[in-house]
Amino acid sequence: MRSHLLNDTTTERYRSSVTEGIERVAARIATTDRPFTGVTVDALSPHIERIDLDRPLHDTTAVLDELEEIYLKDAVYFHHPRYLAHLNCPVVIPAVVGEAVLSAVNSSLDTWDQSAGGTLIERKLIDWTTERIGLGPAADGVFTSGGTQSNLQALLLAREEAKTDSNAKLRIFASEVSHFSVKKSAKLLGLSPDSVVSLPVDHDKRMQTVALAHELERCRQDGLIPMAVVATAGTTDFGSIDPLPEIAELCDQFGTWLHVDAAYGCGLLTSLKNRDRIDGIERADSVTVDYHKSFFQPVSSSAVLVRDAATLRHATYHAEYLNPRRMVHERIPNQVDKSLQTTRRFDALKLWMTLRVMGADGIGELFDQVCARAAEGWELLAADPRFDVVVQPSLSTLVFRHIPADVTDPAEIDRANLFARKALFASGDAVVAGTKVGGRHYLKFTLLNPETTTADIAVVLDLIAGHAEQYLGESLDRAS
Ligand SMILES: Cc1ncc(COP(=O)(O)O)c(C=O)c1O
Repeated sequence: MRSHLLNDTTTERYRSSVTEGIERVAARIATTDRPFTGVTVDALSPHIERIDLDRPLHDTTAVLDELEEIYLKDAVYFHHPRYLAHLNCPVVIPAVVGEAVLSAVNSSLDTWDQSAGGTLIERKLIDWTTERIGLGPAADGVFTSGGTQSNLQALLLAREEAKTDSNAKLRIFASEVSHFSVKKSAKLLGLSPDSVVSLPVDHDKRMQTVALAHELERCRQDGLIPMAVVATAGTTDFGSIDPLPEIAELCDQFGTWLHVDAAYGCGLLTSLKNRDRIDGIERADSVTVDYHKSFFQPVSSSAVLVRDAATLRHATYHAEYLNPRRMVHERIPNQVDKSLQTTRRFDALKLWMTLRVMGADGIGELFDQVCARAAEGWELLAADPRFDVVVQPSLSTLVFRHIPADVTDPAEIDRANLFARKALFASGDAVVAGTKVGGRHYLKFTLLNPETTTADIAVVLDLIAGHAEQYLGESLDRAS
């Protein structure tokens, strides 16, 4: 069994095994002509069920053969230009090299004595990111597992900075289309169920600042504490960017922590064309950045950044066996002092490889391309009488629904769109997402693949219309 341990005696096995794994993925990606096979849970489950984990195959090739059947063949492939569903990006190759290196070396970024250079690389990337945001000289941050964790940590710091022992009085303000992790964080932080005040959005799905001002004032008058405003720079559904400068002004006025959830919009930090769309982000107290959304990084890769490094102390605990207090005085950089996690992947390496090989402008170029594609997609949709499209994109999502000719019943239109999404998924020809707007079912494209063309968008729209029409035809037959 020791021959499976990666060490100085097994590097040949390591090289050949990993190469074999990579060859399988490369072959699969080279020949995958649809984002999904349309496999169903019922069809796939028995293949996984029947595998006896207590009877190993003892052979990497055989296990990879098996993996082809139970995973690689039917996985959902984000690299495919007609994968248009969630906030998943195709990944850049330098980052994948980073992933291979980091899992093999297996540094853990909690302490210097488990990481050494990895710690310094992560710190440099945090500084790079805070500089791009413009958070100022006292800024700091730490890599996290994703936007949900980044938002949680930011709100933890905000709660502590609110300096009250009466959690019941704390209020968080976020728009009605902010990410659900805001509410989840409030719950995890022990805040009351009504602690998150949901603010209305304008026609472009941006937080209404008049409503925010009103609610902040009301909070003050009611003797409550405005703990944080969460502004979203790139909402999950619409890519809308809340008016950051106006929100920052109000936060100054009311002494409220400003958290900017830029999990999605952070890609603009590298854009030469569109960076100004997130102007005002530099006024945040904390920012969430998901490199695994708009920096084309493999999952997971995210960071929480703060204006004032001292606020990270709210996540600091010392353990004698790990990061004793004396190490702070010895200036030993233990990232665990800033993190909610202890053992932590060296995800930063992927971004490092990306910046060193491609450069930040290269990422920005890719992100600009998907934003431009979304703008073209919007034009297609707006000109097509078969569809109703919700807002002009600020980033790269399109929310729309098929409006069949001669059908006026909104519930029937809902059903037709739900059917179209399901049928498309089952066919594997394309994968699209869905959401609700004004209580009605809509479909969503999240464009994060620069290889997706306007022709792809047009084809998928035709497929959707075809499926919806098929549903309506069958529904008429059923009724007659
Ligand atoms: C705006 C926004 N914030 C936070 C998140 C959560 O990020 P993660 O899925 O990385 O936890 C998402 C995910 O889609 C998001 O769109």
